[in-house]
Amino acid sequence: MDKIIICGGNKLKGEVTISGAKNSALPILFSTLLTDEPVTITNVPPLADINTTVSFLNFIGKTVVKKGNTITARTLDKHKQYKHTAPYDLVRKIRASVLIMGPLLARLKRVDMSLPGGCAIGARPIDIHLNAFKKLGAEISVEGGYVKTFTKDRLQGAVINFRFPSVGATENILLAAVLAKGKTTINNAAREPEIGDLANVLNKMGGKITGAGTNKIAIDGVDKLYGFTHEVIPDRIEAATYIIAAAITKGEVILKKVIPQHLKFVTDKLIKCGLFIKETENTILAKWVKNLKPQSIKTEVYPGFPTDIQAQWMALMCLISGHTYIQENVFENRFLHVAELQRFGADITIDGKTVDIKGVEKFSGAPVMVSDLRAGAALVLAGLAADGKTTVSRIYHLDRGYAVFEKKLKKLGAKIKRIHNK
Ligand code: UD1
Repeated sequence: MDKIIICGGNKLKGEVTISGAKNSALPILFSTLLTDEPVTITNVPPLADINTTVSFLNFIGKTVVKKGNTITARTLDKHKQYKHTAPYDLVRKIRASVLIMGPLLARLKRVDMSLPGGCAIGARPIDIHLNAFKKLGAEISVEGGYVKTFTKDRLQGAVINFRFPSVGATENILLAAVLAKGKTTINNAAREPEIGDLANVLNKMGGKITGAGTNKIAIDGVDKLYGFTHEVIPDRIEAATYIIAAAITKGEVILKKVIPQHLKFVTDKLIKCGLFIKETENTILAKWVKNLKPQSIKTEVYPGFPTDIQAQWMALMCLISGHTYIQENVFENRFLHVAELQRFGADITIDGKTVDIKGVEKFSGAPVMVSDLRAGAALVLAGLAADGKTTVSRIYHLDRGYAVFEKKLKKLGAKIKRIHNK
């Protein structure tokens, strides 16, 4: 397996262009199942999760081709039906494969899906998705590791009240209800920008969706959807990671192709820490000008502090003099990076869903292992700031979510390289 070697201590300086958002591109890719017309998606990030999804859609019966950052999808034989079974080998690789359910249920009235996989960050059940499909008229059973979902008639619009604003469930219900008969209302919907991006795509296809980006989304079902061209929004999680990279290395980084509004919660916190931030319409300058102050955070659903930045925030706070508390409120097991950060010399104590961090003066490079995508980013950030050599293993997790990570960091002046192990 490949490894990343970092010789830490270099201040990052320069410009980095942020890629398209993984968490937007994935649901948009699944939306291509809703039409037989040609589709073009641009600004798609070069990531393992995208390749997995492209293979998945090709298996189901679409013809999906990726060329650089552009993906085209077609239905070559309009009389041939999609497959309705999503097997273990494809589904286990990424959590987002659960988004196969909405479109296939809408178009084939049935889908058998192996229970999903993804990051090792908690139980990640799919009860919110399934309860909502039931409201739309689906019958559901679980047999032999498969969730079997079936509807005799076309899905029927309904009022759905989520017990929690799940991102994936909001997307799945949008993907199903857009072709349902009548009106669907989702109360307590997720408000993440990626939901807005998906709703924009569905509306370009001829859907009638209002309220995306608020906690109440209304979907007027339509009979047919059409082709579209769409540019994926910038990845706010990747962007936040580079801003923290500037902070942790006491550097100066300009991020290009970002939507600063999507990063408000993180940048506001960093300004309180003492980092200099200057924004234009689509760039952010992040510059270390003085010793930073600690800032405690609680992860929340959007527009709160993102759980996907919690690990990277922890790496930064470990090197700031004083006490920081971090509370993880979205996932129940998202502190796998703590033990690895301790290898650098971090002083962290876990108490249930909170960690207590006492800032240390410096990190020393160490061999560390990635447990999940964002934990991996935190370890790379720690390695960039540490004295000496850090070896990061199991980096396939990073390849799932960070486009050409070490290349972008190298361009900013990091001493970082990938070792290919055959
Ligand atoms: C998406 C993001 C992920 C991010 C997360 C929260 C994608 C591909 N992934 O994941 O990067 O960390 O949002 O911002 O977009 N839950 C249930 N039952 C359900 C569904 C979810 O209990 O049916 C729980 C989960 O276990 C978790 C919490 O709700 O504790 C949040 O999950 P959800 O918002 O669904 O996240 P994902 O869509 O999986």
